[in-house]
Amino acid sequence: MLIAGNWKMYKGPAETAEFCLRLREEELEGVDVVLCPPFVSLAVAVQLLAGTEIAVAAQNVHWENEGAFTGEISAPMLRELGVYGAIVGHSERRQYFGDTDEAVAKRAAAALDAGLFVIACVGETEEERDGNRTEDVLRRQLSVLEPDDNLVLAYEPVWAIGTGKTATPEIAQEAHAFVKSQIDAPVLYGGSVKPDNAAELLAQPDVDGALVGGASLELDSFTAICRTAIPS
Ligand code: PGA
Repeated sequence: MLIAGNWKMYKGPAETAEFCLRLREEELEGVDVVLCPPFVSLAVAVQLLAGTEIAVAAQNVHWENEGAFTGEISAPMLRELGVYGAIVGHSERRQYFGDTDEAVAKRAAAALDAGLFVIACVGETEEERDGNRTEDVLRRQLSVLEPDDNLVLAYEPVWAIGTGKTATPEIAQEAHAFVKSQIDAPVLYGGSVKPDNAAELLAQPDVDGALVGGASLELDSFTAICRTAIPS
């Protein structure tokens, strides 16, 4: 099981340091833990989690190694920092920053080429689900991705992100099974995962972990979710 904390645009270096110093004292053997802080907080997270099993990943990555791309960060730059992976295609990137399926595919391919692991996010909006288009949307989003040993997928229904509306375990399972029918890779569930709903979601056969937003910002709720994923 893999539990990734997506901090979004929260926690600068000082707060990140404080969190990591406490996180490294936690007993989390048996679960793969990944922390995804904002770019400016990656260095301190890498430094303070060195020597632990906890991996640090970025929330985005550009497809070129370098060039005139103001505001972007490349995969080799992340590697140089000691970062292990990157999220690509988060729905907030697609919604607010115009990331298309093609851009997501290029980001994923470049990151994988550079030796990063990738968490590629897919998921339908409420309107798409209500219009019975969930599978079409997932099929389209997944069709541009190439299978890879270092590729992990995250099913994040947009209507469940930051809304407190979690997919039922049945909805998650059905979507995960469909995602796996398109690409054979581990699939994380994301969308309002909390300590009190993590167990039933993680118990689904095709749910291989979670991508946690809001509940990853507090150490106690994040580690509670991580512990849920440790096999008993
Ligand atoms: P949430 O975010 O847990 O706050 O719903 C999940 C995500 O956006 O990855």
